[in-house]
Amino acid sequence: MERVFRRSSFILGEELEALEAEFALAHDCTHGVGVGSGTDALHLALRACGVKPGDDVLTVANVWVPTACAIRAAGARPVFADIDPRTFAMDPAKIARALTRRTTAILPVHLYGQVADMDPILEAAAKRGIPVIEDACQAHGAAYRGRKAGSLGAAGCFSFYPTKNLGAYGDAGMVVTNDPALARRVRSLRNYGETQPRYTCRETGVNSRLDELQAAMLRVKLRRLAEWNERRRRHAARYDADLAGTAVRVPHASPTSRHVYHLYVVRSDRRDELRAWLAKRGVGSAVHYPIPVHLQPAFADLGRRRGDLPETERACNQVLSLPIYPELTAAQRRRVVDAIREFPGRKGRP
Ligand SMILES: Cc1ncc(COP(=O)(O)O)c(C=O)c1O
Repeated sequence: MERVFRRSSFILGEELEALEAEFALAHDCTHGVGVGSGTDALHLALRACGVKPGDDVLTVANVWVPTACAIRAAGARPVFADIDPRTFAMDPAKIARALTRRTTAILPVHLYGQVADMDPILEAAAKRGIPVIEDACQAHGAAYRGRKAGSLGAAGCFSFYPTKNLGAYGDAGMVVTNDPALARRVRSLRNYGETQPRYTCRETGVNSRLDELQAAMLRVKLRRLAEWNERRRRHAARYDADLAGTAVRVPHASPTSRHVYHLYVVRSDRRDELRAWLAKRGVGSAVHYPIPVHLQPAFADLGRRRGDLPETERACNQVLSLPIYPELTAAQRRRVVDAIREFPGRKGRP
């Protein structure tokens, strides 16, 4: 931060350039483009991939709204495929039926820190000749069959919202890619659409830049990302073991994915009772997310109804996020486990 103040260069400077190179490299990509948020990363990556008004983009609905907002910001319509109930990610078997004549991109979400089953998703997209854009906003450092989240599709989109596995001290995001032309276009779109020579604009963009102070701090934190992810994984392994046979179903760790546990999400058919029980015992928990996007009032015009996406809706009724972060102590974790073990009544049915 002192370096930034000394230079007095606060926007599009050396810290961002260095962060873009370092973060891209850490995610097996040749290019990184820092933007103002994860939502903007998705919006600008979609536009850079050629998504335009009138198009459909296939995604999932068991998420909070930014993914669908980004699709709308690009002028397109979000269309939803149901999820695989084990991984909470897009079910590749549901893609073919969910594709429309106008689908021009597929946007899987690596929810909670686990990468979606990308091979069949990429295959379905290749068959249609459309790009896959990864919503890796919750999956910094995660991997799929040894390849990093964000490097599998045409572009990977990350959020550095403060609570993420790699969080800034404010809003920030990044698009990573191995496609230099795509990177160039996002770079232009984040800066009003400016191209070379300076003060030339061929398409209208937005003002969405990752500032130097955030970049400087993210560079320091990036060095610890692998260690922090490892600590999250160790906490998750302990939770898995200690919660076996209790009222909750522990998350499924897919053998193809290296889960980085942005969230540790259990399932229970008595979720709300359990949440209240935990709160009374001083244990914080959260629901990510209670209302699927297709049932949000803002998306009512899509004409989707309750029952359209059964696995998505079931997950929204059953998921509960337990405390997980690198600094969690064994004693704190045991307190969470004890409170769940003491939860009275029959076992939760998954
Ligand atoms: C899956 C997912 N997509 C998109 C976003 C949007 O990121 P941001 O809040 O940085 O705009 C988030 C985080 O909020 C997220 O978790």
